[in-house]
Parts: sequence; structure tokens; C-alpha cells
Amino acid sequence: MASTLMLLLQLLLVSLVSASHFFGGTTTYTYKGRNPDGSFNVEIRDRDTYDGCYYSLYWYCSSGYCGYTSTSQRGTLDSSTSAPLYNRQWCETETVTTRVVQSNRPFEMRAASCCWIPTRTSYWGHYWYLNTLVDLGERSDTGKPNRAPEVAILPFLRVPENCPRTYKLMSFDPDGDKVRCRYGNPGSAECYGCTQHSGFHLHQDSCTLHYQYTNADPLVNSFELVVEDFPQGHISLRYSDGSQSSRSPLSAPTTTTTARTTTPWWWTTGRPLQATSPPLSKLPLQFSFLVDPPAPSCQEGLYLPQFVHPTPAHGQRIHAEVNKEVEIRIKAQASYAAIQDIIMSGPMNMTKHRTTHNEFVLRWTPFSSDLGNYFPVCFAVESATGSAVTSFPGNTHSHNHGTPTSQSGVYQSEMRCVILKVGTEEIKTNVICTESEMRVEVEKSSLRGLREDHLRLSEPSNTLCSLERYSNSTHIIGVIPLNACGTQIEEDEEHLIFKNEITTVDDSGALITRKHNLEVEFYCQYPKKGNVSLGFTAHRTMVEVFDKGFGTFTYQFEFYPDNQFRSIIDPSSYPLEYDVGQKIYMEIDASSIVNDTEMFVESCRASPYDNPNSQPTYSIIEDGCPVDPTVMIHETDNKRQFRFCIEAFKFIGLHDQVYISCSVMMCEAGNPNSRCSQGCINSNNHHHSHRRKRDSAIQTAAHFVSQGPLRLKRSADISMSAGNNLNLNLNLVFIAGCLLAAVAMICGVLLYRAKMSKVKYQRLASSEN
Ligand SMILES: *[C@@H]1O[C@H](CO)[C@@H](O)[C@H](O)[C@H]1NC(C)=O
Ligand SMILES: *[C@@H]1O[C@H](CO)[C@@H](O)[C@H](O)[C@H]1NC(C)=O
Ligand SMILES: *[C@@H]1O[C@H](CO)[C@@H](O)[C@H](O)[C@H]1NC(C)=O
Ligand SMILES: *[C@@H]1O[C@H](CO)[C@@H](O)[C@H](O)[C@H]1NC(C)=O
Repeated sequence: MASTLMLLLQLLLVSLVSASHFFGGTTTYTYKGRNPDGSFNVEIRDRDTYDGCYYSLYWYCSSGYCGYTSTSQRGTLDSSTSAPLYNRQWCETETVTTRVVQSNRPFEMRAASCCWIPTRTSYWGHYWYLNTLVDLGERSDTGKPNRAPEVAILPFLRVPENCPRTYKLMSFDPDGDKVRCRYGNPGSAECYGCTQHSGFHLHQDSCTLHYQYTNADPLVNSFELVVEDFPQGHISLRYSDGSQSSRSPLSAPTTTTTARTTTPWWWTTGRPLQATSPPLSKLPLQFSFLVDPPAPSCQEGLYLPQFVHPTPAHGQRIHAEVNKEVEIRIKAQASYAAIQDIIMSGPMNMTKHRTTHNEFVLRWTPFSSDLGNYFPVCFAVESATGSAVTSFPGNTHSHNHGTPTSQSGVYQSEMRCVILKVGTEEIKTNVICTESEMRVEVEKSSLRGLREDHLRLSEPSNTLCSLERYSNSTHIIGVIPLNACGTQIEEDEEHLIFKNEITTVDDSGALITRKHNLEVEFYCQYPKKGNVSLGFTAHRTMVEVFDKGFGTFTYQFEFYPDNQFRSIIDPSSYPLEYDVGQKIYMEIDASSIVNDTEMFVESCRASPYDNPNSQPTYSIIEDGCPVDPTVMIHETDNKRQFRFCIEAFKFIGLHDQVYISCSVMMCEAGNPNSRCSQGCINSNNHHHSHRRKRDSAIQTAAHFVSQGPLRLKRSADISMSAGNNLNLNLNLVFIAGCLLAAVAMICGVLLYRAKMSKVKYQRLASSEN
């Protein structure tokens, strides 16, 4: 009986708790100019977090005239399944709304509903209230409407109970105003719970939240803060209806506190400053904070991830340009936990990626309407141990060996926030990507004072890489092979990215130091999968070549599962996956039915690209001689068949796919003078090159056949290859070109499609000798 009651009670709990969705939200706004009819535009960005991506806040006008919505757009910013108990995930969305208001007088908008996710103060999840004060009055000091502080926070923060930590909340103000972060005030409907949590201290004037100590709890602390800006001096706001209103700076409280030397420093700064006039704007900043069970150590870099180079510092300002992608690169390490994921809160359409270097990359492209605006981005990296580790490739860092009671936990790094400032395009550039090269064009007139002879690509030694080669009087033009001139390759889940940069150098003779250094980083991005990459994985069917003296041949290059060479590996399973060291069985077939021919495989090379001229290549067979020590040639009776195997390997670096390309030829069978009969010959023996002419009728020219790609199964060891000296300046501007390669690859496939015809063999009258 009691157990039935318990069950009912639990069901009730679950159903009630399941109505609890809200994790928090923030709002910012930006003045967007006036319309011809005199009305004002304001863009409002609401970020809200729920346990699903489909909810959004409903805002209503609570004071003043809020005008109407002219455009509205909603998108997901980030989501994670590393969420508190009862809520399987969190998802933050942003709604960008443009409102049109008839006057620039202040107005307030409010959102309120139920319920927060279960919190420490209310297991049922209390109501939430958010309140935003927008004031577009013209400031007497700037002559423009006030710019609100840039607020941002991660919607869900967590810390182990034993690890005190300081969170600097984003409190940047474009007008240089004083920003204050305080707990909401229930009287002003700024919050519902309005709890000032024990174990935390909020330093209002520096917008710093200190976590000191409290017991772990599966329920979160709900923080319902308010961010306001106050001028540094006395100013007035002028409104379109002719009215005015004055604003005063925050002032020191009248009673001074006695110094308390035993308390932390933030107490010694005295009581918070007081407001003597309304703020210029007021924004909600609400989030959930979970206190986890203790970590074995609070030292960063052991369990808690530690940010390392090239992660930007908290508060760093990053220059972004209209229509150019900007990148933020983040890296974190934890010796005893596996780095799981990055969580971030940035502008809509910002994307996150993880490279094979185990760096996280956030990318975003501003529109021209974003010009002059600031966009805060906050991020943290999460690590996990024990059963909390979700498997992902390259997870090499769980050193949980000696601990039978496997400690399981999710650990969040510190939170960092940076500010993207969208400026105008400073240097006019254009990037064009093709299958094998990048072409970058820089308008000389935009270089302003930079001497073009001081510009170079990352690797200047090679004359091929000289920028002078293709430049004309108006443009500096670089044509850069994907595999030379210092081009770096990077790979994430979806793309192969080839990067290079143009930098300024002081030439050794020069005595001047240059004030304006330039770094134009550019890249070409190629999709790894999807429709366009079909060409990548397409099985190369037969290769037909026409050759004087031998007519038309068809070569076939196939992979086999074992040394029986019975049935080919189904091309639909390409790219084929191998473990390092596993044997790869291959057969090249010249499907000629004519008995008096034979085939010879002159060379076979492996390369990361399906392009015979690409670098690097790895020799497997050269001049008919096995070069790689693992090559085994399997005898066959058919003279037009070549069977061999090698052990799978991986190119050092990021290439995880391999194409095998061979140069083959056909010869008249049994002719001792043909290249085929000579077999393996020493490569520095040149005599066969001058006899080629004479022998032209007894052998074909070499033909090129290739097959692939092969893909190395991701092994546990993602070694960061040395020499990654991509020393990224975080203020670089990235110029992305795109996707042409895919087209080229499809062309490559088309090229071969025309000749599925039967083997044609025409014997030439062998009268030439
Ligand atoms: C986000 O991206 C979509 C699709 O590319 C675009 O239509 C939309 O305008 C973008 N929104 C913002 C706010 O950047
Ligand atoms: C220089 O090259 C650029 C890019 O190809 C081209 O647009 C421009 O017209 C060229 N200028 C001259 C003077 O040839
Ligand atoms: C892939 O191709 C199919 C059929 O051509 C098309 O319907 C689909 O939209 C394409 N997908 C992408 C991502 O381009
Ligand atoms: C080729 O040789 C095989 C066996 O050696 C023989 O059976 C066949 O008839 C020959 N074909 C031609 C076209 O000479």
C-alpha cells in the first residue's frame, strides 16, 4: 500500500517536474537607425535556454510604447546533453526581433511564465520573470542613443563543490558606461525566485560572481540577475517629443564600512555603489548553476579543463569584418579526464567545430547590418571521467587505470567571454578555390602604406610561391598549390580546410620597423561528405586509355578482402577503412583478351589526394621494384594481372585518407627488350630512357590508374604531428573561398564514365621494326 502511494507520488513528481523547462535567458538591444517616417528601429536579441530547442519566450509590453515587430528570426545557438538531473538536455536559442517604435521614449518589455527546471529553492521549478528596459533617448554626451551593455553568459554553469571559482560576467559597455550586475528585485518584477544563493558572492560593481562553497546538489541554483548601465558623469537624454530626462553616475554609499582585513578583497571595496537616477538601460541575465560532487583535484588541467594557447583571454576584443568569416580557436586540456565538448553562447549562426588537432573552432560571418556592433561570445570546455565519458574518436586521455571505483563526473572549465567588433573591410581580397590550388587576390589600393615587396606567403623559399609571379599593377595575386608554399591542412567533422597566409616581413637589409603589420589568412574549404563529395568516395570504374600501337585498353584496379583475390570489395563500401598495419590486397587488371600482351606495373604511390602530381607521395613500388618493406607480390598466371598487398599506414599529419596510384604499361609478351621483361631496374640507371623510342611498338606509354580512397580507422592515437606552427593571431581575418573542388571531383568521375565500352584491341601491323 505504502509502495503504491510512493509510486503515485513519484509519478506526480515526474509529471510536475516535466513541466519545468526553463534554464535562463538574457536580452540585449541595439539601436538600428530611423525610418523615413521618423520612427525608430531597435533590434532586440533574446537568448533563452530550455530543455528543448522548440520553446521560446513571449514578451509583452509592460510599460511605455513598445511599437511593433517588423522582422523576427529564431535560431539555435547551442545545445548539450550534459544537463542536470530531470532534464536530458539544454538548448539555447536566440530570437532576433526588429521593433519599430514611434518615439525614442523608454519602454519596458516583460516575459513571464512557468517553470524553471527544478531548483534548490523550488523543487517544482518556480515561475520566471524577465524584464528589459529599452531607452533610445539621445545622450547629451555622445549625441546618439545609448548603447546597452553587451551581456552574455553560458546558460548552464557547473562547478565541483570543493573548487572555488570566479566568474567574470561579460559587462562590456560600448559607450564606456559603468555597468552594474545585481540580483533582481522582486518589487520590480525582475525575477520570481530572486534568491541570493549562499555559497556565492556577487560583486555588483565589477560584475564578478564568486563561488565559494556549498554542498553538491542535483538541483540547480537559479540566478536571476539584472545588468544596468550608468553614465560616468551627469548627462541628459533628449526625446523626440521634446522632453528630457537626466541620468547620474552611481555614487558611493553615504555610510562607509570599517575595513575588515580578514575578509576577501571584494569586501574591502566597501558597499556597492548606489544609483541616484534610473539606469540608461536594464537587461536580464538569468542562468542555471549546478554544484557537482567534489572533484579529486581542483587544479586546472587535471580534471577541470585548462585553456591553453591559442584560446583568447577573457574580455579580448576580436576584430571581425562584414561578410568575412571570423574564427575563434579554443583549446583545453585535462590530464585525467577526456575533453568532451565545447559549450558556447554567441550570435545566431555561429558554428562550432572540432579539428583533428583537438582544437575547437567557432566561426561566424557578420552581415553588413552588423557593422559597428559588438557581439559577445562566451564559452567553456567540458571534460568527463568514468561513465560520463561519451565515446568519441581520439579519446585518449582517460587515465583511470588504478581506480576500480571509477569516478564519474563532468567538469567544466572556467567560462571565458570575448567581444567581436564588426568593422569595415580593411583589405579587399578575393579567394578562388579549385581542385588543386587557391588563388588569392588582394587589391593593392587597400593596402595603405604597405610595400608589396614586403609581403609573402608563409613559406617563401620556393620560387613557385612568390607573390610577384602572378601579380599585376592593381592586384597582388597568389596562386598557391594546396600542397606547397606552406599551406596547412586542417580537418574537422565536415571539411578539409587548406590554409595559408600573406604576411609582412622586414627584409633583412631594411632598418625601418613597420608599424602596420598585415596578416591575411585565407583558406579553401572542401566538404568531406554530402552530395558533392560523392566524387570523393566514388569507386573508380575502369580506366580506358588509347594508345598508339596498342589501341584501347581498359585497366581495372580493385581491392580484395584477402589473398585469395576471388571477389572484389564492394565499391559501395568506399571509402574503405583499414587499421594501421592491416593488409590491403590489390589487383590491377588489364582486361585484354589478347594472349600476346603483358602488363607491367612500373610504380605505385600513395598520396592523400587523388591527383598523381600531389605531394606528399609515398612510394610503394618504383621502377618495378618494391620500395615499401611491407610490399608482397602475389604470383598469378595471368600476365595481365598484378596482385600485391601492403600494410596500411597513415600519412603523418592530418590526412586520414589515402589513394593508391599506379603507373602501368602494356608490352608485347615475351619480347626481351620490352620494359615489362626487364622488371625491377635500378632507378639511377638511365639507359632505358633512350631506348624507349626504339621500343615504342613493343610497349605502350605508361598509364596512370588510381583507386581509393582508403581511410584509416581512427585509432586511439591522434598524435598531434609536429610542426604545426600555425601561430594564429586571433585578430586575423579569414576569407573563405569555397567548394569548387567538389565540382572538379565530379568532373573527374565523368571523365571516366564515357568509356565503359568493351575492350577494344587493335593489333597494329608490327612492321615498324
Ligand atoms: C542565419 O543564417 C540563415 C541561413 O543562412 C540566414 O537566412 C539568416 O539571415 C541568418 N541570421 C542571422 C541573424 O545571422
Ligand atoms: C589584375 O588582376 C585582377 C584579378 O584577376 C583583375 O581583376 C584586374 O583587372 C587585373 N588588373 C590589370 C590592370 O590587369
Ligand atoms: C542531395 O541530392 C539529392 C538528390 O539530388 C537532393 O534532393 C538533396 O537535396 C541533396 N542534398 C544536399 C544536402 O544538397
Ligand atoms: C590464349 O591462350 C589460351 C591458353 O593458353 C588459349 O586457350 C586461348 O585460345 C588463347 N587465346 C587467343 C586469342 O590466342
